[in-house]
Amino acid sequence: MDNQWWKKSVVYQIYPQSFKDSNGDGIGDLPGIIEKLDYLAELGIDVLWVCPIFRSPMVDNGYDVADYRSVDPMFGTDQELDGLIAAAGQKGIKIVLDLVLNHCSDEHEWFRRALKDPNSEEAGYFYFRHTEDGQPPNNWRSNFGGSAWAQTEDGRWYLHTFAKEQPDLNWENPKLRQALYDMINWWLDKGVGGFRIDAITFIKKDLSFASGDAKDGALYPIENFQSYPGISEFLTELKRETFAKYDAVTIAEAPGVSPELFAEYAGPDGHFSMIFDFNWDHMKGVSVKCDPDSVSAWRSRMFESVLHTQEHGWSAIFLENHDQARCPDKFLDKDKHGRDSMACLATTYMLLRGTPFIYQGQELGMTNSIRSGIGEFQDVSALNQWKEGLAQGRSEDEMLQELNDYGRDNARSPFQWNAEQHGGFTTGTPWMPVHSNYREVNAEKAQADASSIRTYYKGLIAFRKSEEWSDVLAFGSFEPALTEYPSLIAYRRSFEGRTLLVLNNYGGSLELPLAEGEVVFGSVETPEIKDGKLNLLPYQSVVLTETE
Ligand code: NOJ
Repeated sequence: MDNQWWKKSVVYQIYPQSFKDSNGDGIGDLPGIIEKLDYLAELGIDVLWVCPIFRSPMVDNGYDVADYRSVDPMFGTDQELDGLIAAAGQKGIKIVLDLVLNHCSDEHEWFRRALKDPNSEEAGYFYFRHTEDGQPPNNWRSNFGGSAWAQTEDGRWYLHTFAKEQPDLNWENPKLRQALYDMINWWLDKGVGGFRIDAITFIKKDLSFASGDAKDGALYPIENFQSYPGISEFLTELKRETFAKYDAVTIAEAPGVSPELFAEYAGPDGHFSMIFDFNWDHMKGVSVKCDPDSVSAWRSRMFESVLHTQEHGWSAIFLENHDQARCPDKFLDKDKHGRDSMACLATTYMLLRGTPFIYQGQELGMTNSIRSGIGEFQDVSALNQWKEGLAQGRSEDEMLQELNDYGRDNARSPFQWNAEQHGGFTTGTPWMPVHSNYREVNAEKAQADASSIRTYYKGLIAFRKSEEWSDVLAFGSFEPALTEYPSLIAYRRSFEGRTLLVLNNYGGSLELPLAEGEVVFGSVETPEIKDGKLNLLPYQSVVLTETE
């Protein structure tokens, strides 16, 4: 039997700026997380992924790390992080930190020294280039818009796959790699449960630095430089020198890993414990609303991916994270937002094979906020995209719509704790306004309401982790079921002679011919199989036992 602990875990993601402010400065912090550990334990999760809390100028909200070993004062102190790890541990919750290895901040001392002295050791930790014509070395584009090169005061160019304040680290340099490994082991020795590893597929560059053919003149890293040949050596060494020596979980953000490469990344002997499954995620430009007409497209992508994963490794499964719109908005039309439809989405993904992740506020049914002008956006990527879009001749209305629909700020509005001012997130002025619906949608209300979506999430987590069913749900095989019904997402999970049939109805009322089975979990009421038939209401989720 597979005894990797994280296969039975449910992970909760915290975006620290927006979770809970304890000192009234309007920004969430570590004591705020400690204060809310009971809330999290009561929900039933057992791993907390905390987005970066390291010292940072916060250009990309902590994904620009200025010191990998100390906590940013905005979030608290190093001792408070130790306190969080210990207090969470007492409740059986492991802390997973966010490891940013592709780049650091331009305020990191390595980059400062590199700027000061082109001949310093640290200058070799980055990609600096000279050009004769005053133009960037090539036409590579940054993921956040504009050229991937920025110029220093002394005329050198340096590479940045993300914002210009996030210079890329030169993984070709063994000293840099060793410095990163030392830092990782230092955290592991402190007792962290593991890491979520940021943008890892970008660490290997095309060292020819040649410009490429590109439709709009700029070469997109997403299409060209994810998992670039040669990356395997880096990732093999990374694991050998760090994670392999500990019982730590490693969850890689590794977009662009093809099905052929999946096993290398997330197979039993892969570079990581798991990678996020972005294959059936609702990304920009791919519209998969879960309405009766289109849910089968989502289902196909989901099933194809899970079938592949179960042959070759393990995935992190999710509906939301800090880079994406809220899941009710991503998957459901506005008039379909409701407790049952959200419960249907939750059941659909949380009982799949893989480790489920819940993003803060997802369990409350938090939704996107509509912003009426670019001045209301804070995300560096949104601001860059806006500038770039306008420069390319797109209209302000179109850009605004796109950012409202897909922008990363959607997930970053403060957590809604109660009906008090600013949703109880802070006693001060929140760094980002709280969603205007906080009086209706908040944790206090949801916890007290037996029919809330949060209560449903709690039950679903308990079901997933129950003694009776956790083996089936963690280790059981996955098999698509009843695909002849276009608006039904149904699958079987089977393990050692026991099977669960999971039914999620995204269409109108449905009468399913089912011979036998007992309902063990459900979202609305407990239906029964009568005369060989089961009736499902719109957005009803039901889990039945089947004995093989
Ligand atoms: C992916 C992270 O999820 C995102 O928030 C960040 O901006 C980029 N990587 C760059 O670190």
